[in-house]
Amino acid sequence: MTSTTHVGFNHLEHNAVEKLMSNGRNHPDVQDKSVFPPGQRPDMSQIMNHGVSETVMKSMMDIAKEFFEMPVEDRVSLYSEDAQQAVLVSTSFNVTKDEFFEWKDYLRHPCHPLEKFINSWSQKPAVYREVAGKYCKEIRVLVLRLLAAISEALGQDSDYLNANFGRKHSQELQINYYPSCPNPDLALGASPHSDSGGLTVLMQGDVSGLQVLKDGKWFAVEPIPNAFVVNVADQIKVVSNGRFKSAKHRAITNTTTARISIPTFYGPSCDSFIAPATSMVDEEHPALYRGYKFEEYMRIFWSKGLMSKSILDRFKIETSP
Ligand code: OGA
Ligand code: NI
Repeated sequence: MTSTTHVGFNHLEHNAVEKLMSNGRNHPDVQDKSVFPPGQRPDMSQIMNHGVSETVMKSMMDIAKEFFEMPVEDRVSLYSEDAQQAVLVSTSFNVTKDEFFEWKDYLRHPCHPLEKFINSWSQKPAVYREVAGKYCKEIRVLVLRLLAAISEALGQDSDYLNANFGRKHSQELQINYYPSCPNPDLALGASPHSDSGGLTVLMQGDVSGLQVLKDGKWFAVEPIPNAFVVNVADQIKVVSNGRFKSAKHRAITNTTTARISIPTFYGPSCDSFIAPATSMVDEEHPALYRGYKFEEYMRIFWSKGLMSKSILDRFKIETSP
């Protein structure tokens, strides 16, 4: 059933073939929308004893590579310009809003509860669902352990974040594909941001590109075989009342090698209430943020393109000096 011609494409798919970075077309130069303005060009931890099987990790990375090495025709049916589409292939972050385009394509889909979503995933490559399904299950076990450990670090019982995130935790799997780039100094694979959910567990392949901002400087987070990068995202920053930072990070490109990274974005139910935990607030540590329903945060998240100011600024409580 694999079609290798453009015959039969609808208008949107045709548009997608043109836009996707991974379409095999040569991009001889970074032009127009992919040139980031000067000044915007180019506490994460890496965990080793994470309990996720090395075989499952490797199979996931291999299938991700296969997905983006298929002819573009085989993934274009999942393309949408609506960044909130549940199962989505797209480019940059939000093509209808981004002022500049990131040098990447991605596949994203929900994965918890698995039985609810697995049949909506890509049918190509043939074993995609099986392989990604196993990976998502193991990652969730890891995330729940991390949430328990963070809950205890916040002076709460181990079930605190699990309960606080509501009944329908959201788990999204994303595969980022960054093609090699002729002008890495002009473009960015992922522009500076903090992640929106609770926690991100990122598998980087063996190509470097991830950087984290610390004391105003960008530091490379070099890939370590079989390790995950764990990244606190905005909601845990709020619940911890700023004790856990949601590190700003970005991804740069290189001239020779395509890079794949596979983040799992794990977060609360849209109806859960996010606020600094009472154990984190006292006279010396006044609440830094007002409480809000997570969907309020996400409404702002989806209304913006890249490089907007931190969404959390909107929820900050101004303290008098
Ligand atoms: C992301 C992200 C970094 C990377 O997708 O949110 O930060 O290394 N990716 O690809
Ligand atoms: Ni990120």
